Amino acid sequence: MIPTPHIEAKAGEIAKTVLMPGDPLRAKFVAENFLEDPKQYNGVRGMLGYTGKYKGHDVSVQGSGMGIPSIGIYSYELYKFYDVDNIIRIGTAGAIHPDLKIRDIVIAQGACTNSNYAAQYNITGTYAPIASFELLEKAVMAARNKDARITVGNVLSSDTFYGDDPLDTEKWQKMGVLCIEMESAGLYMNAARLNKRALGLFTISDSLVTGEATTSSERQSSFTKMMEIALETAIAMENNKTNK
Ligand code: HPA
Repeated sequence: MIPTPHIEAKAGEIAKTVLMPGDPLRAKFVAENFLEDPKQYNGVRGMLGYTGKYKGHDVSVQGSGMGIPSIGIYSYELYKFYDVDNIIRIGTAGAIHPDLKIRDIVIAQGACTNSNYAAQYNITGTYAPIASFELLEKAVMAARNKDARITVGNVLSSDTFYGDDPLDTEKWQKMGVLCIEMESAGLYMNAARLNKRALGLFTISDSLVTGEATTSSERQSSFTKMMEIALETAIAMENNKTNK
């Protein structure tokens, strides 16, 4: 089923590993600033996707849009119809852990959610969406090689940016959840269902504890370290293809 309803790439135009920012303009920024010879393969709905080279390896970068329904569509089509093996979300998140500061890097080992996405699997229980250990391990190694301070743990993939109940944040905070974003749990469930790999990396763009925030132009351009960790993780997977 290629092209898919939302991606117009031809077979073979998308790499095995895809970096996935929420913002399609951030996909353009990553392609233009981090990849050699980037070629745009998608423009449907403005959800830009590119493939280029990083240190000689093919890597793609594709916008996901905001929220689990949107990343659910793009990640499903990439995994299922374009034979993508690894998706690394590169996003922003709002800190709820008091020790996190603006621009800190978080890696989502697990992704709690208030979404009903898992209901489609008809499981009689609560599914725990987790990162691929192979991607997680390689991302931690890449961060250590760069002397980047990272925090690895649980995040919350929320269906709401403007939630109605201010006390809700405190309840997640009590359970040790680090930060709030809106996509990873859906991405992790699609990866699990399709026997593929996923990881979420975040820079903290704002703090729900202190009220600090970064501007939208900073959000687009100042996340170099996280992108380098993601790119090094992508090529570490390429160098180690037998590792499922
Ligand atoms: N909530 C949800 N998603 C986010 C936030 C937030 O506070 N900050 C960045 N992404």
